[in-house]
Amino acid sequence: MVLLTNTTHIHITSWVITILLFLIAFGKPSKGVHMVLRLFYVLVFITGIALFITYNGMNPALYGIKMVAGIITIGLMEVTLVRKKKGKGTGGILISAIVLLIITIYLGFDLPVGF
Ligand code: HEM
Repeated sequence: MVLLTNTTHIHITSWVITILLFLIAFGKPSKGVHMVLRLFYVLVFITGIALFITYNGMNPALYGIKMVAGIITIGLMEVTLVRKKKGKGTGGILISAIVLLIITIYLGFDLPVGF
């Protein structure tokens, strides 16, 4: 656990790679990239939960909102890619994903641990 919670670096690395893979998968749909992306969703989630369990006592309300925002962001990314794959429109859902992503990043950096 110390490895995951000592710093926020592993969490940050995980979501940066997640965003890059999302952009690649959105630009050029590919089963392989989407599969690796799903693995990174899990890594973001595990590293986020580890930080949450360790630090949420400092500000339970904000940490709770940060966690929910992170989970919704991942959900919206996945729905965006599935809709794209099915040939359905992605405009609204993509914008929601970006808005939630910005809120999540803002909340993350605003919280006391890490940067
Ligand atoms: C795409 C999804 C996500 C993004 C972009 C994101 C972004 C961030 C950012 C920018 C930080 C601040 C790092 C720092 O200050 O050094 C952070 C920290 C954190 N994240 Fe995430 N996160 C995501 C998903 C999640 C999820 C799913 C959870 C929980 C299950 C979570 C829980 C946390 C916690 C508890 C922290 C520590 C907050 C603190 O600095 O005190 N995150 N995240």
